[in-house]
Amino acid sequence: MISQSNTEPVIQIPAFDVMKIREDFPILKQLIHNKPLVYLDNAATTQKPQMVIDKEKSYYEEINSNIHRGVHLLSQKSTMEYETAREKVMRFINAKYLSEIIFTKGTTDGINLIASSFGEKYVHEGDEIIISHLEHHSNIVPWQLLCQRKNALLKVIPINDDGEIIFEEFEKLITEKTKIISVVHASNSLGTINPIKEIINKAHSYNIPVLIDGAQSVQHYKIDVKELDCDFFVFSGHKLYAPTGAGVLYGKEKLLEELPPYQGGGDMISSVTFEKTTYNDLPYKFEAGTPNISGGICLGTAIDYVNSIGFDSIVAYENELSLYTENKLNGIEKLKRIGTAKNKSSVFSFVLEGIHPHDIGTILDFEGIAIRTGHHCTQPIMERFGIPATARASLAFYNTKEEVDFLTSSIKKVFEVFA
Ligand code: ALA
Repeated sequence: MISQSNTEPVIQIPAFDVMKIREDFPILKQLIHNKPLVYLDNAATTQKPQMVIDKEKSYYEEINSNIHRGVHLLSQKSTMEYETAREKVMRFINAKYLSEIIFTKGTTDGINLIASSFGEKYVHEGDEIIISHLEHHSNIVPWQLLCQRKNALLKVIPINDDGEIIFEEFEKLITEKTKIISVVHASNSLGTINPIKEIINKAHSYNIPVLIDGAQSVQHYKIDVKELDCDFFVFSGHKLYAPTGAGVLYGKEKLLEELPPYQGGGDMISSVTFEKTTYNDLPYKFEAGTPNISGGICLGTAIDYVNSIGFDSIVAYENELSLYTENKLNGIEKLKRIGTAKNKSSVFSFVLEGIHPHDIGTILDFEGIAIRTGHHCTQPIMERFGIPATARASLAFYNTKEEVDFLTSSIKKVFEVFA
């Protein structure tokens, strides 16, 4: 909403009523160990609004059928809904063409697709790939596998003690052998927001394509792939209030056109003979086999839901809640936060002196609080900070300051248990 004034237009953020929003999420009403659920494990997966749950149910009750394959009405309906969801994704991330939106199983699937397909075509012996020390295992292992296959070299951008990449070191890693750079937008275990625009600009000045892992950013920040000018962007539906098992790979059309298919099977072909197979157009060339149809459709519904709240409101509320959480956690004696970047998402990793993170998680669970403990599929980060694991609270827009207060008082209880 933009209101006109005598001077500059002022962007007014629509009012954000968190208690009303919580009503949309049936799971939040339940008790855990007889205590109200305080769900702070949103970086692992987000909860689903009623709209999405209803859509999944109605899909199976009313239109379940395979897509792109039937002349019958049900197949036409499910195909139409699936393709409409693709359009919603395209608009949501501001892609240029529908052909640039590939439905995948999720972030991991999207990265594996590019590592395999791009790697097959463009990476050869002695070539180099750059990732950062902040990556989730899913943005490390596919590239390691590629490097092993091709005898290529994986280079890693180092991070400082706050968990921020060291940009000057990144610049030094780029050589004429660098074939692709793949970095996370927001770290799942530390919450660091990477300067992806600067990374992309630098990479492009050497004509190197960039893949952005948006698994932990797409739900918190408005993504505009055209403005970012990233070459590939991947994310998972389930982190964006949609079901598990459906995600998206965005790729610039020209790049995707040039890549060989990832998996062979139905839907990705144009014609097949035993002598020769020709491939389908984008995006289907990369969508072999029956996909997660209801998952894709529900991802479209989740996007409708988020749009109905408005990203400006979501960002403003989450920023306020994050600041509140940071101050609360900083006030707890003997709590050490891991990951203190200046530019951070609403993910808070911490350790408590003398107490194993798994014990923190177990005691908090008895209070009804769900957090994640462990290495968060980022073992190199744990190694960098010399710890085996952290406790991690991660927020979504349905969380409240009262829940953060309860987390804080419950952490103090953990100390009492171990006193
Ligand atoms: N990658 C997810 C997390 O950080 C599962 O918890």
